[in-house]
Amino acid sequence: MRSDGSARSASRPCPVTAAREAAVPLYGQSDTPVPHLLDQLRQRFGSLAPVEVAPGVLAWIALSYDLNRAVLQDARAFPRDPRRWKEAKEGRATPDKVPGPFWYFRNALASDEPDHSRYREVIVSALDTIAADRARVTVDMIAHDLMVDPAATGEADLVGDLAFRLPLLLLNRYFGLDDTHGRRLVELMRQVWDGGAEAEAAMGGLFAYAQTVTLERRAAPGQDIVSRMIAHPNGLDDEEVAHQLILMISAAHDPLMNLIANTFHELLTRNSSRVAVMSGNSRIEEVVDAVLWKAPPIMLMPGRYPAEDMELGGWQISEGDCVIIGYGAAHTDPHILAHMDPASSFGSRAHLSFGTGSHQCPARNLARQIAVDAVTTVIRLLPDMALSVPADRLRWRTSPFAHGLEALPVAFTPVQAVPRDTPPSGEQRCPHTPSPSSSPQETTGTWRGIFVMPDRWRESWSRIWRSGR
Ligand code: HEM
Repeated sequence: MRSDGSARSASRPCPVTAAREAAVPLYGQSDTPVPHLLDQLRQRFGSLAPVEVAPGVLAWIALSYDLNRAVLQDARAFPRDPRRWKEAKEGRATPDKVPGPFWYFRNALASDEPDHSRYREVIVSALDTIAADRARVTVDMIAHDLMVDPAATGEADLVGDLAFRLPLLLLNRYFGLDDTHGRRLVELMRQVWDGGAEAEAAMGGLFAYAQTVTLERRAAPGQDIVSRMIAHPNGLDDEEVAHQLILMISAAHDPLMNLIANTFHELLTRNSSRVAVMSGNSRIEEVVDAVLWKAPPIMLMPGRYPAEDMELGGWQISEGDCVIIGYGAAHTDPHILAHMDPASSFGSRAHLSFGTGSHQCPARNLARQIAVDAVTTVIRLLPDMALSVPADRLRWRTSPFAHGLEALPVAFTPVQAVPRDTPPSGEQRCPHTPSPSSSPQETTGTWRGIFVMPDRWRESWSRIWRSGR
């Protein structure tokens, strides 16, 4: 709805000034856990709250289930491309102040039509290959092998030992690379997370990983999903392919890590869930669905940028404002909870954790299944595991965007397990790596020497990883 500009509205306080004055800081250290902050915002503002994502940088958070769904499902009124963001156009939001998810990259998630479909179709085709393959077996194998060493000690951190590593090792295999590169990818991600002097170089290394595999597969295609993406009739150029790979790496790593860890958390802290699973009355699938509702891996994510000035949630908002999607807030909306049984461990598939509308997660079923398989494998291997610290001492990440644990320490009876996927030579084998006859030596050779990143890619890459945690 356009502002009418009448004398009556001119006498009212300027809506932009009112929003800026009311905006609540979403940056910096806060003792208030993000779910509580979202509840407070809802109590104070209703279904839409003005926030500052950096000093002086305005955005809005959609807090009700209906408003989030309405915004996500109307791509025409609420486009996705962050280049529309007024705060950036007018110079208040800059990449050094505002984290990566607020910026444009040449990928499906940040694009509107026609680029969105061009990119998304290529990603969907690649994901179909994974789903059609024996992903379940591969997840089981990776999860099992990751737990072999901790299993022998009787202690593990289900975040650091398993959930942090599994998504990247899995994707790396489907990119057609052996586990040496997968472990390098995990190590680079670890350095990025640790921050400090090595983080910037590690960001470059992550981007160079995507760039290198793209260039190598262009030169010598194999059976892997990168080769499929390059060969797709939509004809993505090398930079576009690399950007979709980076999107897949970042989209898979963090939320999948949180979903796996949050599912373990539910099983380890809620006796009724655990008993229901162990007695066969409930399946891991149902626990995962419940977790997707109660502890969504993504709490908030920017954004949508209204195509015109409009009234939304009782506020007058401007064309190009940023509306942050409140996945977590939608699930605690009292109007929705009134129709649900919060004590039930059976999840509602109506959750918004994977989004809805044209950008909804193309890996929805795959991601859910990976979490189910990873959790199942570990429970089979370590059936008596229990938290090794009191539940109230577990630390949740402070990021407003991600909802996950820093660590999930468990103890159990030590188990001597044998790795399932390590050939006797100790050299890692990858079923998806193209055979030497179809691929040059460097496809699986030492890569570090050729991790070179063009300058024009460097800035956009580092923005991706500068998101708050
Ligand atoms: C538990 C795990 C996951 C969760 C909770 C999740 C959640 C989401 C959400 C909420 C969106 C929509 C964002 C929006 O509407 O703005 C999305 C999009 C996307 N996700 Fe996922 N995701 C997960 C796993 C994965 C995995 C494993 C992959 C790929 C390997 C993936 C790839 C993507 C891509 C490519 C998009 C962009 C789609 C588009 O813009 O059309 N996600 N995801």
